Amino acid sequence: MIAYESVGHRYGDRVVLDDVTLALPEQRVGLVGANGSGKSTLARMVNGLVRPTSGRVLVDGLDPTSEGAKVRRRVGFVFTNPDSQIVMPTAGEDVAFSLRRTVRNREERARRAAAVLAAHGLEGYADHPAHQLSGGQKQLLALCGMLALDPDVLVCDEPTTLLDLRNTRRFAEILAELRQQVLVVTHDLDLLADFDRVVVLDGGKVVADDTPGPAIRYYRELVA
Ligand SMILES: Nc1ncnc2c1ncn2[C@@H]1O[C@H](COP(=O)(O)OP(=O)(O)OP(=O)(O)O)[C@@H](O)[C@H]1O
Ligand SMILES: [Mg+2]
Repeated sequence: MIAYESVGHRYGDRVVLDDVTLALPEQRVGLVGANGSGKSTLARMVNGLVRPTSGRVLVDGLDPTSEGAKVRRRVGFVFTNPDSQIVMPTAGEDVAFSLRRTVRNREERARRAAAVLAAHGLEGYADHPAHQLSGGQKQLLALCGMLALDPDVLVCDEPTTLLDLRNTRRFAEILAELRQQVLVVTHDLDLLADFDRVVVLDGGKVVADDTPGPAIRYYRELVA
């Protein structure tokens, strides 16, 4: 459960989030809004990457500001730019790196990493140089690295930007099957069609908060 309690955020004089209060117990929550409306800022607060300047955020009752390490163990984050997350030379080693604390045996780690890759569209890529994957494959690799850690909450900020149609569908299917709570920031409104809840931000305020149909309709009308 992610909760925002009267959360405000400013960079200098610029108000980026204005008194956002949301209790999000649903499993799949989408966050949409115009460029600069505050989506990434709100999403990054879930693992303490950005701290509110007023109010507070709670993740399963823990405040990322004061209990950052505990929260980050529960929350996986997939960024728009996968290069910022890929740390090892090959795809298999990269996912295995995520498993270094939980799986002590090196061969077992490699085997599990290959299985995670195979299950998410990267079968046969374990030995492939990570930085020579296509943009979309890198995005899938970043997701694999996070899923290998088995977090309770997965936050994705524009995870399908680089994905082709097939991999976007695959990504949607992966999300649909996850046991994790997922919070997804996206401009791909189709991705949210079967989500439980969609929150629309405008100028740092929540302007709609509903099931996908009505929330996305509201957002389309706002833009039109
Ligand atoms: N580190 C920063 N320093 C100053 N201003 C920032 C910083 N990060 C974000 N902002 C500002 O905060 C506002 C909200 O940014 P945010 O990245 O949350 O928007 P967003 O809704 O994710 O937009 P997009 O759809 O373009 O990703 C913007 O006006 C942005 O310029
Ligand atoms: Mg953003």
